Amino acid sequence: MRRLFPPFEYPAAPTAPGRREPPSADRPWTLEEIADAYAYPAATAGEAGEAGRPWLRGNMVASLDGAAHHGGRSQPLSSDADMRIFGVLRALADAVVVGAETVRREGYRPARRREAFAARREAAGQGPAPAIAVVSASLDLDFSLPLFTEPLVPTLVLTGAAAPAGRQEAAREAGAVVVHAGEGAEVDPARVPGLLAGHGHTRLLTEGGPRLLGRFAAAGVLDELCLTVSPRITAGNAARILDGPGFETPVEYELASLLEEDGFLFSRYRRPREAVRK
Ligand SMILES: NC(=O)c1ccc[n+]([C@@H]2O[C@H](COP(=O)([O-])OP(=O)(O)OC[C@H]3O[C@@H](n4cnc5c(N)ncnc54)[C@H](OP(=O)(O)O)[C@@H]3O)[C@@H](O)[C@H]2O)c1
Repeated sequence: MRRLFPPFEYPAAPTAPGRREPPSADRPWTLEEIADAYAYPAATAGEAGEAGRPWLRGNMVASLDGAAHHGGRSQPLSSDADMRIFGVLRALADAVVVGAETVRREGYRPARRREAFAARREAAGQGPAPAIAVVSASLDLDFSLPLFTEPLVPTLVLTGAAAPAGRQEAAREAGAVVVHAGEGAEVDPARVPGLLAGHGHTRLLTEGGPRLLGRFAAAGVLDELCLTVSPRITAGNAARILDGPGFETPVEYELASLLEEDGFLFSRYRRPREAVRK
């Protein structure tokens, strides 16, 4: 893996005492180095009794021609390095927010504890693995799945107060924590970061899918987008990484970093500082 941008901002750890490689050298990166490169802003941790500020990062992969999946799965667009970064982003997060359709299609399982990140998570005051937070209005989810019955940390179900009461009860019976983020059946995406922060989750990662990501972006709460550009084309009519009504005016993001491995580009974009939520 090599860094294309910024060329010299945060040099990688020395490979031997006293020796630093040029940051753009093409070489394997340790998980630790990837984790350092993708660290959440310090403000998410809070200071001296002050609660941290939530930060919502999205992580998506797209084909060269913009498809967010192939045959209903993102795996055909992915690579080893993409999965490595995917895993690191999970390991850095307090909670992973995901749309119900992605849970249904991709067969989501609970996040697992990874020894490589255990000390880092403990030092950051995090539990052994991120909580998964599923966003759904219908609650048409199989609550007998391990995602709900066997997670290391309870799975959250984000829904509206008027979502089917029996399904809310089924979620609770399975062990999930039901969080109301709207008065109707729908979730108000603007309320999600604050509500999750109230549950102690400020380092937020959303893995989509496109409809949920579109809702977060439209609500102005998508602070950062980690986009993998896969060197594959698919044609067809798969959704782009954001799906939903178009914005009146395109929303600006700034490039924060760009990595490359095997022709895959790993970009990280942030909202300009002045646009980020107060
Ligand atoms: N390229 C990538 O990186 C990537 C990442 C993730 C997923 N994907 C692909 O994307 C596809 C699925 O994405 P998708 O866009 O169809 O669906 P999605 O965003 O994963 O989920 C949509 C569902 O989430 C729930 N939802 C979304 N916004 C909501 C709101 N404001 N309030 C309440 N519920 C809300 C609804 O669930 P209910 O229907 O239960 O009410 C809705 O049907 C899959 O093929 C997957 O492989 C690709």
